[in-house]
Amino acid sequence: MNIILLGPPGAGKGTQAAKLEAERGMVQLSTGDMLRAAVKAATPVGLQAKAVMETGGLVSDEIVTGIISERLDQPDVAKGFILDGFPRTEAQAASLDTLLTEKNMKLDHVIELEVDEAILADRVTGRFTCAKCGTGYHDRYKLPVVPDVCDVCGSTEFKRRADDNAETVRARMAEYHAKTAPILPYYEAKGLVARVDGMADIAHVSEAIEAILDKR
Ligand code: AP5
Ligand code: MG
Repeated sequence: MNIILLGPPGAGKGTQAAKLEAERGMVQLSTGDMLRAAVKAATPVGLQAKAVMETGGLVSDEIVTGIISERLDQPDVAKGFILDGFPRTEAQAASLDTLLTEKNMKLDHVIELEVDEAILADRVTGRFTCAKCGTGYHDRYKLPVVPDVCDVCGSTEFKRRADDNAETVRARMAEYHAKTAPILPYYEAKGLVARVDGMADIAHVSEAIEAILDKR
């Protein structure tokens, strides 16, 4: 099963993709995570992407499509993949179709996480992750059980994303409305879109997604 998780910054794409990975063995393909890794490693792609990401803009279609194409060639994607943060423009959606045809793969669902925009800035600016294992937390909605100790690996080091400040979040939201939301009709025409209430708590959002995946 291959799916796209679509939704604005803070909608819960990464949270739900990680759950699907843990519970169904699917593979999360997050272009945001891949680009952040490239920035950290100061690769040529990372050097180009850094400034764009810090202002909340979109990295070029060529770069992200190239990254996804390479990732789709790795054997683990045969377990089923979750595209998280890709495609994000009409050009990326068209390129994805070409790639999938070339690689003899297909999409089963495009799941849109519907959220009330007023709460998104709060979700994003309150977010932090374990610096060692990457488990996600939130200042109010999901704190570690033992304060300042990761529930999963016991690390006491946490980090926040450079683009998780109020100003950049506004820019990311604007990009979502201008360039990403318009790709929904493309997938609606293919009969692939299902919508989930992303305002429900994390477990309920997860149940709703599982129900869509299990319907087939
Ligand atoms: P990316 O990393 O994809 O960021 P984003 O789309 O802005 O989305 P986020 O990761 O902020 O949100 P999310 O939906 O994953 O929410 P999460 O699960 O963490 O992209 C970053 C940048 O990279 C872009 O701005 C761009 O520059 C570049 N880029 C990436 N892909 C690109 C592409 N294809 N083309 C061009 N450029 C690209 O949840 C957020 C918080 O809320 C967490 O703390 C979580 O615990 C909490 N939470 C989640 N669900 C719930 C819930 N149901 N109830 C309560 N709290 C919840
Ligand atoms: Mg994410």
